[in-house]
Amino acid sequence: MSKKKLNRGVAVVGAGMSKFGAFPDKTSRDLFVEAFQEMKASIDKGLDVKDIETFYLGNFSSDQFEKQAHLAPIVANWVGLSPIPAIRVEGACASGGIAIREAMLAIASGLVDVVLVGGLEKMTDLPIAETTEALGTAADTQFEVPAGFTFPGFYAAMATAYLDEYDASPLAFSHVSIKNHQNGALNDKAQFGQTIPQIMASKKARAVKKGRPEPTWQTEIDFLTDPRGNPNIAWPMTLFDCSPVSDGAVTVLLVAEDLAKKYTDTPIYIIGSGQASDGALTERESLSHVPSAVKAANDAYEMAELGPDDIDLAEVHDCFTIAEIMASEDLGFFKRGEGWKAAMSGKTARDGEHPINTSGGLKSKGHPVGASGVGQIVEIWKQLRGIAGERQVKDSPRVGLTHNVGGSGQTCVVHILERRNDNE
Ligand code: COA
Repeated sequence: MSKKKLNRGVAVVGAGMSKFGAFPDKTSRDLFVEAFQEMKASIDKGLDVKDIETFYLGNFSSDQFEKQAHLAPIVANWVGLSPIPAIRVEGACASGGIAIREAMLAIASGLVDVVLVGGLEKMTDLPIAETTEALGTAADTQFEVPAGFTFPGFYAAMATAYLDEYDASPLAFSHVSIKNHQNGALNDKAQFGQTIPQIMASKKARAVKKGRPEPTWQTEIDFLTDPRGNPNIAWPMTLFDCSPVSDGAVTVLLVAEDLAKKYTDTPIYIIGSGQASDGALTERESLSHVPSAVKAANDAYEMAELGPDDIDLAEVHDCFTIAEIMASEDLGFFKRGEGWKAAMSGKTARDGEHPINTSGGLKSKGHPVGASGVGQIVEIWKQLRGIAGERQVKDSPRVGLTHNVGGSGQTCVVHILERRNDNE
């Protein structure tokens, strides 16, 4: 047997999430309860909470954001799970993806059958400078931080390398943003529930109300290339190239394959998983791709016995728009240097040949960092079950992929999920 196979299959049978956004009146416990209740209600044949044997929580830094470490047993107890093991998993923005993988491995080991995975981050209670500083602790504080990097700066460096290496147009970044805002506007859980034209219209109305001249933007590109509408954060990454700072919680229920039909007639199976690591950005030979993503993807494809052309849709880690373009190449959807053209020509749109980030992605749905990797699983779970509403991808997608990156690529986790026909 290949060493890349699980000894026991694993399925996702339920999923729920809070709305993502800024919620000054809610605690992380409140958000977690919302996600947990929605997950419980999503389980077609019902869930006895006593079935849950272990809990993994993806959380980057509740100690910095909320001054509350040791979060896993606290939220587990809050939803009535004590005394089961409750484990916080940290891998920067990939914390959620790692939590999914560790839960999958626990079930595959045979030790447990039913595992809850959560993702949770409450980031907006701090002023933005402190949030940025806290996020910066996910970087290499010996080699990256002293060079003056914050996360927008890391991805700006990757973006300039990419533009230079492939003679690419920076307008490709705008096209990623426009698409993800379009998708996010169809997702009632998204932080930004608006398309870019809707945001332009409200900014114009606000200007008029304040007695200022009405901006003359006609198209999304007019707006996105005007620093008064879309200021630079770290060139060439502008405000609308960045994911926002977010609060949010997600939970999914993973069970052993042989038990899945006890919970639902439509389990979604995890058929591929890969995780890889890397050093600081300063140690990479090239800045225009993410080696850990290539390795994690190859391992996941090998385990699933599938390749990039078998993937019907993907949720990728678009913490910055350049990251989505690099991911579309690292995952093998497009050749190196072709991802930016694919973004501009609509190939990654909901109705394109490789739909990417139908949820709105981190850019529009929001990026509560430790929750994002679990949130990606929720979208693929919904799409494969055909319950994604207005943003449902056509032709009943059967295979979906998630790609979750930590830091500037020091960690990457890729999962491949599948819906099977009843007789398979
Ligand atoms: N995209 C689009 N609009 C955004 C935005 C984003 N990412 N972030 C904030 N805005 C909008 C707000 O809605 C608000 O609009 P309004 O004036 O119409 O109400 C306006 O910009 C100001 O919002 P504010 O919250 O004050 O922005 P900020 O300056 O505090 O934060 C960033 C902006 C870009 C610095 C912040 O979103 C950021 O740091 N993002 C990156 C997060 C990150 O690094 N995550 C880890 C990734 S690895």
